[in-house]
Amino acid sequence: MAEATLFDEETGGAPSTPARRPRRAKPAGAAEDGCAPGENRRAGRTAEEMASRQREISVAEFFTKNRHLLGFDSPLKALLTAVKEAVDNSLDACEEAAILPEILVELSPVAENRFRMLVEDNGPGIVPEQIGKVFGKLLYGSKFHKLSQTRGQQGIGISAAGMYGQLTTGKPVRVVSRAGKRAKAYEYVLTLDTARNKEEIHSKSEIEWHRPHGTRVEIELEARYQKGLRSVDMYLKQTAIANPHLTLTYVDPGGEKVVYARSTNELPAETVEIKPHPHGVELGRLIAMLKETPSRSLGGFLQEEFVRVGAKVAKDICARAKLSEKAYPTRIAREEAAALHTAIQETKISAPPTTCISPIGEALVLAGLKKEIEADFYCASTRPPAVYRGNPFQVEVGIAYGKPGGVGLELTEEGRIQKRKAAQVTEELVGNADEPIRVLRFANRVPLLHQQAACAITKAVIQTNWKSYGLTQPRGALPIGPCAVLVHIASVWVPFTSESKEAIAGYEEILRELRLGLQECGRKLGTYIRKGKRLQSEYTKRSYIEKYIPHIGLALQEILDLTDQERDATVSTLDDVLQKSRKF
Ligand SMILES: Nc1ncnc2c1ncn2[C@@H]1O[C@H](COP(=O)(O)OP(=O)(O)O)[C@@H](O)[C@H]1O
Ligand SMILES: [Mg+2]
Repeated sequence: MAEATLFDEETGGAPSTPARRPRRAKPAGAAEDGCAPGENRRAGRTAEEMASRQREISVAEFFTKNRHLLGFDSPLKALLTAVKEAVDNSLDACEEAAILPEILVELSPVAENRFRMLVEDNGPGIVPEQIGKVFGKLLYGSKFHKLSQTRGQQGIGISAAGMYGQLTTGKPVRVVSRAGKRAKAYEYVLTLDTARNKEEIHSKSEIEWHRPHGTRVEIELEARYQKGLRSVDMYLKQTAIANPHLTLTYVDPGGEKVVYARSTNELPAETVEIKPHPHGVELGRLIAMLKETPSRSLGGFLQEEFVRVGAKVAKDICARAKLSEKAYPTRIAREEAAALHTAIQETKISAPPTTCISPIGEALVLAGLKKEIEADFYCASTRPPAVYRGNPFQVEVGIAYGKPGGVGLELTEEGRIQKRKAAQVTEELVGNADEPIRVLRFANRVPLLHQQAACAITKAVIQTNWKSYGLTQPRGALPIGPCAVLVHIASVWVPFTSESKEAIAGYEEILRELRLGLQECGRKLGTYIRKGKRLQSEYTKRSYIEKYIPHIGLALQEILDLTDQERDATVSTLDDVLQKSRKF
């Protein structure tokens, strides 16, 4: 396709240099930049000329040139982003329709650097009239305008993945969807018209499909597949940890199949959608809301458009802003809106309700970690909900510590200390004892694999004093140890640092909650590590004594002239004394 050449493949998405204008002949004595001294290259360009070049930029064109903003900056990352967008949508749709999700992800190599991604779910499906827009139009979705905890929010996920596929391979997106038992299944083949940000439907046909409801999307895209910490495999494994209600089948490009079976039949608690909290609204947004509202009075506007504003609070705000409660909202002028905004910030308003967020919960964080990560010790903490800029959020932390097979001691059921049996370790989620700990970051149950350093979660982990919990920690860095720390932020609006949703912005309220959650969980880890250290030192002392008891027996036999039987009896008494003195 012609558009494919828009990109400089080497730089992975940076727009290619525009064709240079032919150079003018360099006049004698010209300066190095090719202009005669005093000559201005820009002279003579009129406003009219410039106006002739000014034109609207479609969102699709913008994101075509800036695909790194959406997470498609390299073929390796493109594969992960595409899978992530499709799986996130499937999970969101299933949860919204109260269906226990069953998802299939299949990656098949088509040619070198080219893959076909197939993601199929048993969700509610999409009605035929919407299929075109959902997959063929950027900034189109059902989640942007509501404040509720979902994985997608901007309406720019799956359509962007399809657009990337189309640009790099020229192939259209194939969608099969069925919106219920009584509905028919349709197959759509479509592309996105980037200049108009509009779908182009190539074909639409009714087909037989084995699923009573659900959606299947297939995208062919230029990509690279690699295993490792930032791979599709790792994303899916971590998705299984944070979504214990999900059954996921994954067929990798080599044809190998992994099934992550669900460990609970309980769907995450249903969340309610909330209206914005007045403390989180920005001035521009407030002005827009005043213009759009159907309310006929300012008092009514405040009560209807915001959460936690009753008659009394509305009256307080208006009085503080020196505005009449009866004022017509659409007539509030710019300065008055500014006064209203200030008054809102100064008025005491109770925190938003937190029924709009659903954490994973301590028990399921533990279950998820135990199911997918082999370790010696697990703990979890869920913090109470908190608020940043009027948006409720909640932080959860889970820790898996100790690599089975690594050096370590354990207590037997009878209370003996013994060296742990070495196990075959293939686990990548708990690193080696001399490596930095692994931080598993999640936002609304979605694993975040890129931009670790820019993320508030990493910052909070670094700011936590892990030395007091028994780990070593170089200054200003992640602690060292065989340990995976899971951190989940659930919120109605996760403040990502960019549209590619890879890192969370460091709002002070969020950093504070993160630190508290990490400390809570860290204390539990500290207790375990200290106990391990005590075990270790007692084990060393005891092994010395055990080693020398037979020699003491021999010495006593010589000094006291004991028979062999008497010597063995003495050795066994000494052994008994040692056993009885155990502290653990
Ligand atoms: N698998 C699916 N099942 C049902 N609805 C879907 C599915 N995928 C996407 N959608 C719908 O399409 C919309 C657009 O998806 P997307 O472009 O990923 O944006 P976002 O997820 O940010 O809203 C979603 O808001 C949702 O309503
Ligand atoms: Mg989405």
